[in-house]
Parts: sequence; structure tokens; C-alpha cells
Amino acid sequence: MIRPILRYGADVLHRPAATVASITAEHQQLIDDMIQTMYAAPGIGLAATQVGVGLRIFVADISVGRNPADLLVFVNPEVIERDGMQLEEEGCLSVPGFNATVARPQKVVLKGLDRDGHERTVEGTGLLARCFQHEMDHLDGTVFVDRLRGLQKDLIVRKIRKMTKSGKW
Ligand code: NI
Repeated sequence: MIRPILRYGADVLHRPAATVASITAEHQQLIDDMIQTMYAAPGIGLAATQVGVGLRIFVADISVGRNPADLLVFVNPEVIERDGMQLEEEGCLSVPGFNATVARPQKVVLKGLDRDGHERTVEGTGLLARCFQHEMDHLDGTVFVDRLRGLQKDLIVRKIRKMTKSGKW
């Protein structure tokens, strides 16, 4: 089932998500829905907070469905290594229509559980490292806009506020 994606300003997007105590059939249904929702958007990553669930779960696929091996599910992920720095333009399904350059690590190693509760460690570089860090931010209640500074941030926040007021957000 495709779930509605919440937009910047929705409470759950701005609060840290809770650890999953143990993976149930309900969590697995949520994960399957998140995968379907991510592909339908389409996007390369989706966090549970973006569909209104405050749990530490995200899905990612930098091939957007072209390569089945690229589909990753993380439950309770932790960053165990970060290295380097990259500057690239970034967007978010919860902030449609806006992009900005965000500094991210060049390499991120994540440890967490997969859909079946098996522990896994995955190293991401380049786009995958960016995606990992972006989704980890979501689980901590941070949206990429929050990482921006000064005028760039003010401009986006002001536009979103204006659209929210006029019911266009
Ligand atoms: Ni996002």
C-alpha cells in the first residue's frame, strides 16, 4: 500500500524517532509499504517518519528499482564510521520542489537490522553515503533544510510557510 508522504512542518518529521524493540509482522508491512511508496514517488530513500511513523526504520535504493540488490532496509541503524566530505545538491520527498547543496560525508558505514531482524553492515560511498546520512537525519528529526544556513534556509522556510498558509503545501 502506498502511504501518503508527509511534508516539512509535520510534527513527526521534526522529532527523533524511537528504537524498534523487536520486528513484528506490522513492522514488516510498514517496510513493504515504505518500499512501494519510495518507488512510486519515485525516490532513492524513505524514512518511516516521512509516512508518519516515529520509528527508526528507513529504506533506500539508489538504483530506484533497476537493480534488486540495491534495495536496502535498515531497522535501528547506527553510523559506525564516517569519512571524508562531499558537496552535492540534495532534495527530499518531504520538501518537494526544493533542492540545495548539503555537505555530507563521502563514506558512511551503517550497522543495523534488515527486514528479518538479521544484523547487517553496509558501506556506502558517494550517493549511497549521502542517502544514508540523509535518512539517518530523518530518524533524528532533521530534514535537509535544517542543515542549511542563513539566507538559503530563510528563503526556503519562508516559501514553505507561505504555501502552507495558502493551503498549497
Ligand atoms: Ni528526505
